[in-house]
Amino acid sequence: MDVIIRPTAESAEALAAQIIADALKAKPNLTLGLATGATMENVYHKLADMNKKGEIDFSLCKTFNLDEYVGLPAEDRNSYRYYMNFHLFDRINIDKRNTHLEDGMAADLEAECARYEEMMEEAGGVDLQLLGIGLSGHIGFNEPLSSFSSRTRAVNLTPVTMAQNGPYFDAAKGEKMPNRALTMGVGTVLDAKKLLMLVTGKRKADIIAKALEGPMTSMVSGSAIQLHDDCTVIVDEEAAAKLTLKEYYHSAFANDPKWAKYR
Ligand code: GLP
Repeated sequence: MDVIIRPTAESAEALAAQIIADALKAKPNLTLGLATGATMENVYHKLADMNKKGEIDFSLCKTFNLDEYVGLPAEDRNSYRYYMNFHLFDRINIDKRNTHLEDGMAADLEAECARYEEMMEEAGGVDLQLLGIGLSGHIGFNEPLSSFSSRTRAVNLTPVTMAQNGPYFDAAKGEKMPNRALTMGVGTVLDAKKLLMLVTGKRKADIIAKALEGPMTSMVSGSAIQLHDDCTVIVDEEAAAKLTLKEYYHSAFANDPKWAKYR
């Protein structure tokens, strides 16, 4: 695993966007795994800017998102389909038919999850999976005790996640956060050829230290990324506050030739 510490959230987001852009330039028919959450918004806006400037082209790109709430239709402003359209897909030259999220409105959720896995397989698997981390330690919506071999499935959200994402739902407008979601499994995530995790802000300092430097445990699904042999984690200084090997990460980034173009 490579851990890169950037001074600010903005510089961490810019680096993540640049790595994704370079992957797309190297492979125009890239299959991208995408994540939602506040952390990713600027990454998507930066990619959209690069697309507008003609620096990157999404016309052959396919995407698969990690997760979607159960019971929210695409047009609901709290659905992850809505988030993705708003922050990325409506701003770039991607063919929407190549963009995939689980359908949280499906009558048969189990069949929907199986269909999603099949679609990913038919696409040749995910080349580059973007990940955030939730305060519960989740990647996607893989809450504590998700098996490291879990696949796409319906899950129940923890109180920590309900508290983290609840404020996005406006009770005055009758919006209610679902307590269930469909998510790629931890095993599904680990099948991606590369992982790119982005974590910013001081409220994530404890959980990211556990995920990166703590023992691998299904109590912290994010710790499963330690099993992946091509994984880059970008954190800002605030999120890096509790990491014990900060100096080592700084020197590795400063010295390793593979990072030369990003320094
Ligand atoms: C959400 C998503 C995750 C995301 C995480 C972090 O619930 N299911 O995929 O990584 O929470 O969100 P944020 O960036 O808003 O902290």
